[in-house]
Amino acid sequence: MDKNNLPEFSVLPEHIGIIMDGNGRWAKQRNLPRYKGHIEGAKTFRKIGEFAADIGIKCLTFYAFSTENWKRPQEEVNAIMELFREYLREADERSAENEEKGITLRFIGDKNGIPEDIANLMDHIEKISSDKSKVILNIAINYGGRHEIAQAVRAIAEKVKNGEMNVDDIDENAISEHLYTKGMPDPDLIIRPSGECRLSNFLTYQSAYSELWFSDVLWPDFKEEDLVAALREFERRNRRFGGV
Ligand code: FPP
Repeated sequence: MDKNNLPEFSVLPEHIGIIMDGNGRWAKQRNLPRYKGHIEGAKTFRKIGEFAADIGIKCLTFYAFSTENWKRPQEEVNAIMELFREYLREADERSAENEEKGITLRFIGDKNGIPEDIANLMDHIEKISSDKSKVILNIAINYGGRHEIAQAVRAIAEKVKNGEMNVDDIDENAISEHLYTKGMPDPDLIIRPSGECRLSNFLTYQSAYSELWFSDVLWPDFKEEDLVAALREFERRNRRFGGV
């Protein structure tokens, strides 16, 4: 899409979550091994991330690898890890460019269990990424919503045990502050392509009032126009948050 002619919206979500689904089916339709679908999916991730930032989305979370995805064949897991490695190295090399564009990279998920070199690269990139950026780009790797809630509960229990918190301090906000997304707005819109209509353990606590948008397009085929369609639908939604 022409960068000088970007679409405008009457209202934009502050935070969009995207479940990148359908890579395997995209590959299967072409008689290709599944990992080829992930390679194309990674290209789509770059394209859509950049486009969303260009149109003014302040926070984006891409679901790249769940705590359940380790169950996939080793070959596929290795191929996905290799894509993370490549992306992280590239992000490291382009850190000055990202800084200039005002993009901060963050990772959400459990770094334990991720190959050590990848976890170290993630830490390194988070350290060199500015906090004062215009856009937060979160990548969920080894992420599970229930796992995240369990680790928040453990962290809170530990604080209560040490006398740093009282039981009465445990409210919805305190829980939010112990999630990986601490300090970020809840997702206003969650997008899932590929025809599946579920959240699959993605942003479980944070999605309580998210608008959901599903489409049949497989993630590697997802275009800027599909994001625009989701945002047009979001403009039409009437969000009431339990009110009237
Ligand atoms: C789900 O599609 C996709 C994944 C589990 C992996 C997503 C990973 C990427 C797009 C690579 C991301 C890369 C970077 C650099 C962040 P699926 O395999 O479940 O598709 P299927 O349902 O059609 O089998």
